[in-house]
Amino acid sequence: MTFDAIIIGGGAAGMFCAGLAGKRGRRVLVIERNAQVGRKILISGGGRCNFTNLNVTSENFVSANPHFAKSALARYTPQDFIDLVRRYNTPFYEKKLGQLFCRESSKQIVSMLTAECDAGRVRVLTGCSVESVRHSNETFVVKTSQGSFESGRLIVATGGLSFSKIGATDLGYRIARQFGLSIVKTRPSLVPLVFAGEGFRELAGVSVDSLVTANGTSFRENILFTHRGLSGPAILQASNYWEQSEPVHIDLLPGHDASVLLTADRSSRKRVDNFFSEFLPAKVAERLLNPGGDAKPIAKMNDNEVDAAAAAVADWSVKFRDTEGYDKAEVTLGGVSTDDLSSKTMEAKGVSGLHFIGEVVDVTGWLGGYNFQWAWASGAAAAESV
Ligand code: FDA
Repeated sequence: MTFDAIIIGGGAAGMFCAGLAGKRGRRVLVIERNAQVGRKILISGGGRCNFTNLNVTSENFVSANPHFAKSALARYTPQDFIDLVRRYNTPFYEKKLGQLFCRESSKQIVSMLTAECDAGRVRVLTGCSVESVRHSNETFVVKTSQGSFESGRLIVATGGLSFSKIGATDLGYRIARQFGLSIVKTRPSLVPLVFAGEGFRELAGVSVDSLVTANGTSFRENILFTHRGLSGPAILQASNYWEQSEPVHIDLLPGHDASVLLTADRSSRKRVDNFFSEFLPAKVAERLLNPGGDAKPIAKMNDNEVDAAAAAVADWSVKFRDTEGYDKAEVTLGGVSTDDLSSKTMEAKGVSGLHFIGEVVDVTGWLGGYNFQWAWASGAAAAESV
């Protein structure tokens, strides 16, 4: 059977692109391996899908080419998606920091994408595995468990590697390699990190408002101690920038100057950990400032000891050995190299008619609705050109 475009992957980017292209009169086929489309959307945002962010710029994305995402993001904006959500009367709200969530359920986003595909007369095949892709005479031939399909355009929207239990596969990267495109090294991201050295098991479950800096980029939100390392929104954000060889710097007292606080109370008879427990959870202050149980009153500390105590809370330097892996990661960092794609159409520079959209591309957003906005924007860019 012949189509104008075949889209592999019925997730956020694939379904959105399919609806738009279908409504432009193109005959579109979506091939989805799961029995159901949009499974990641359903579990996103704790079941309420944080579908975009009010403050999207290319600065909110990590990519080997930081300029690549600009064009697509400018042409399909958060407001465009908000308008669509409003047309479907889906109630939503801003949770914090510009993050827009469905008030009721993520299912409404999947239903909306499905309705858009219906409006575009898109054919959606679920429970369908791709066996091979061939390209000859300007036609892509996709062999699947449900037969072979042909098209002049192939749009790869297979997503990243996280959450393999809900259908993630490496097919997109394999297709990219098959056609000679390069892949920027992939790794789990928006993910908890695992301490390199001894852990802080006794602090598991404790969270602290912090300023976390990884590789020069800082985020102020909570960190959360886990049994093996740190999680919480500030750490997930920092994981996009983390490099294994470099420590992450954590200011546990953002908005305060620990040195100034200590200097102002230089004659205090309070033990230094007790002093800081006014600003931090007491368990954290004790573990960082009195690990051996022999901390002194502030008045008895020399200047070097005061400086060291201030640094311990204001510039806690932490080495992580690993991430918690793809099963705990919201996204995959890296992917199909943007050097090999057109930023206008997402088409491979060397292979006419082959496009890559969404998370499979080396464009990774911050936590907070940015990754879905990239799925919509890159999907729209490809849809306009097919
Ligand atoms: P997506 O993963 O959505 O879709 C890819 C599709 O391709 C899947 O349906 C998959 O089954 C299919 N597929 C894969 N291999 C295939 C094959 N071989 N054959 C056929 N089909 C195949 N982002 C955000 O902005 N706000 C949020 O609230 C959240 N929340 C969130 C929670 C959790 C738990 C996770 C894991 C992730 C998020 N994200 C998020 C990230 C967001 O879900 C993600 O970036 C987008 O879904 C990416 O859209 P894509 O369409 O590129 O991939």
